[in-house]
Amino acid sequence: MAIKITKMMIRRPRRNRKSVAIRGMVEETVLTKNNLLFPLFVLEGNNIKETVTSMPGIYRYSQDLLLKEIEECINLGLSSFVVFPCLPDDKKDKYATESANKEGLYIKTLEKIKQEFPQIALMTDVAMDPYSSDGHDGLVKNGQILNDETLPILAKMAVAQAEAGADIIGPSDMMDGRVEAIRTALDKNGYTDTSIMAYTAKYASAYYGPFRDALASAPKFGDKKTYQMSASNTSEALIEATLDIKEGADFLMVKPALAYLDIIKLLSDNYDVPITAYNVSGEYAMVKAAAQKGWIDGEQVMMETLLSMRRAGANVILTYFAKEATKFL
Ligand code: PBG
Repeated sequence: MAIKITKMMIRRPRRNRKSVAIRGMVEETVLTKNNLLFPLFVLEGNNIKETVTSMPGIYRYSQDLLLKEIEECINLGLSSFVVFPCLPDDKKDKYATESANKEGLYIKTLEKIKQEFPQIALMTDVAMDPYSSDGHDGLVKNGQILNDETLPILAKMAVAQAEAGADIIGPSDMMDGRVEAIRTALDKNGYTDTSIMAYTAKYASAYYGPFRDALASAPKFGDKKTYQMSASNTSEALIEATLDIKEGADFLMVKPALAYLDIIKLLSDNYDVPITAYNVSGEYAMVKAAAQKGWIDGEQVMMETLLSMRRAGANVILTYFAKEATKFL
């Protein structure tokens, strides 16, 4: 008996999915190695490669091994890196003095990286927390995080980083007016070509937990809610973006990424500068943990997650997956 088709279907979306070749032909969003920015942690000493427990596959390297790691990543096709310092408590104080120390671990490491690999895009972190005995991104007085008093400290560390050869300065502190303060200081010192990637919409997020373990940089009291944004807010991201653009930011960042894809889309729809998504430590840890339990296919989830950030409108993805992802790109 012949099957009767009662209604002709003119449109059949499945036709465009019928083979690898056709699926490839109609692919809309692509992810390439050029989109990836790889974060690395540096600590004092020699020949040290320390595991970050909550981030399987991610390590804290002493400078010598960090250089080897960067070389390996370059050979895999990565060309953009951001470095975070992990300092012992005796290098921390209220004023984050160590952050502008030209002989200190961080500045020396940046210098060395740029000497050995002048071709890479080297991004830095600007905020007080890795150097602060209070564990906050700004200067603390009587339990308050001071805004304007923090700005010169941030500007000074940015200039030291630019002098060391940094290509992109990454203020992650969320103080008001910091992009302008940094831009002005850079320009005054002749670093007019040093870029600023502003952490524009940085939310007060529990997804940063593993990162704070990695750097031992958790706040000593309270939380970061008086400077980082509330997860419930959207319009505020537009206010931050408008200010950052006006103050001279070359890139706008949204952080975290996965739970904030709507914000990535919002900024990419409304601003003409490149948008960065920070696929943060907790997002990485969740995928790794579930994969270790055998509950998901970690590699496929990784690629799908990165692609979702591109699809939302991110040009750049700052991600702990960068090295691993090169395997599929
Ligand atoms: C702090 C800073 C944080 C991250 C980057 N810079 C944590 C925080 O704000 O407490 C988090 C990154 C991550 O979770 O991967 N200046």
